[in-house]
Amino acid sequence: MITNDIKYIGVNDHKIDLFEGQYIVPNGMAYNSYAIIDEKIAIMDSVDINFKDEWLCNIKETLGERKPDYLVVQHMEPDHSANIMSFIEAYPDAKIVASAKAFAMMKNFFGTDLDDKKVVVSEGDTLNLGKHTLTFFTAPMVHWPEVVVTYDSKDKVLFSADGFGKFGALDVDEDWACEARRYYFGIVGKYGVQVQSLLKKLATLDVEKICPLHGPVLTENLPYYINLYDVWSSYKSEDKGIVVAYTSVYGNTKKAAMLLCQKLKDNGVEKVVLNDLARCDMAEAVEDAFRYDKVVFATTTYNADIFPYMREFINHLTERNFQNKTVAFVENGSWAPTGAKVMKEMLSKCKNLEYVNTTVKIMSALNSDSESQLELLAQELCENKVEKGGSDSVKYVCDICGWVYDEEKGSPENGIAAGTAFDDLPEDFVCPLCGVDKSNFSKTE
Ligand code: FEO
Repeated sequence: MITNDIKYIGVNDHKIDLFEGQYIVPNGMAYNSYAIIDEKIAIMDSVDINFKDEWLCNIKETLGERKPDYLVVQHMEPDHSANIMSFIEAYPDAKIVASAKAFAMMKNFFGTDLDDKKVVVSEGDTLNLGKHTLTFFTAPMVHWPEVVVTYDSKDKVLFSADGFGKFGALDVDEDWACEARRYYFGIVGKYGVQVQSLLKKLATLDVEKICPLHGPVLTENLPYYINLYDVWSSYKSEDKGIVVAYTSVYGNTKKAAMLLCQKLKDNGVEKVVLNDLARCDMAEAVEDAFRYDKVVFATTTYNADIFPYMREFINHLTERNFQNKTVAFVENGSWAPTGAKVMKEMLSKCKNLEYVNTTVKIMSALNSDSESQLELLAQELCENKVEKGGSDSVKYVCDICGWVYDEEKGSPENGIAAGTAFDDLPEDFVCPLCGVDKSNFSKTE
C-alpha cells in the first residue's frame, strides 16, 4: 500500500537476462504499476509482456468486485505498455488516458489508436477520480517523446514514469544510488536538458512520495533523490575522483594503467577507479565516467584507429553529452601510436573538457621514458595542470515540451542556420515541437 487509496500492483522479474536488450541486471528488474482507488479507479501503466497474467491478477485481487475506469499510459516503451490490449480485453469499458504521441505509438505497436477509448491529455490537463485529481505534465525524452508524469494532489504523490527509476527487483535489498545512477546514465543520460526541464516543473509541486515505473517507491528524504537527479542531469560531477579506463591486448597498457593508479594513490588521491573496458560492465564504466571529475583514457592503436572497446566506451560518453571533466590520455602502439589523436578527436564536440598537458606515449611496453611520463601525468592530475578544450555551445530549452535549440544545429523550422549564436532568441522564435513563443525558453550554458 502506498497510501490509503493507492496500491502497488507491479511485478518483479528475476528471469530477465538483459534489460532493454543490453543492461545486465544481477538483481532482476521491477515493472511498477499502481491502482488509484476512488469513485473512479485509475490504473497507472501496465507491465512487461511476460507478466500479463500476474499483473491482471494483481488488479483483480486489489479491486475485488470493482473494475478500473482508466488505464493511464505514461510511457509507451514495451516494458510498461505491452499489456494495454490485454487490459482492454479484460476491461472493455475502461478508457485509456495518454498523450497524443502515445496514441500514435499505440497505432504503430497494436495497429489501432483506440479511437473509441482514448482520452488525450497534454500539459496541465487534469482527470478527476472523485477525491483525487490527477494532473499531467509532459516529460518529453524522459525517456521517450510521448512521456507524461502524473501528480495526485490529494495524496501528494508523483508518478514519475522512468524518472527516479533503478535497476533491480523490489524483493532485493540494495543501495538505491548505485543502480539508479547506472540506470540513469545508461537510459536517460543523453536527455539531461529535458530532465532539468522536468525538475523545474516538479519544483512547483508539493510532493511527499515518488512512484516510479522501476525501483522502489520513494517516501522519505526526497531532496536527496531530487538533488542527485539535478546533479546527474546538469552533468556536474557527483564526486571527486579519477577514473582510469583502459583496454589492453597483451597486458602492457594494463600495466601502465595499474602503475598510474598506484602513482595517483601515492600522490594522495583517495578515489581511483580502474576499469578494464573489455571485461567490466560497460554501463558501470559509463556511470563512473559521469560520476567522477577526472577520466584517463588508455588504449592501444588498432587498425590505425583505437581498440574497439575504447571506441565503444567513448561513443557511449559522447552520445550522452559527456562534459565538464578533466581528461588525460595514455596511448600505446608498436610502430605508429595514434590513440591519443583519435580519442581527442572523438571527444572534440564535448563541452568543457580540460585536457591535462601530458599525454603518455608507450611504444609497445613501458620503459623509463614512459614511466617518467606516467609520473608527470599523475602529478598533473593531482595539481590540475590543464588546457581547455571542447565546445561551449549555448542551448535554449522549451520549458513546455523540452525541445532544445542548440546553436551548433540551428533551427531550420525558424530559418536559423547551424552555427548561429544568439545572446537571446529572436522575438518571432517559436518552438518547432509545441509551438509556444520564445518567452517559454530557458537558456543553459
Ligand atoms: Fe522503463 Fe523507458 O521504459
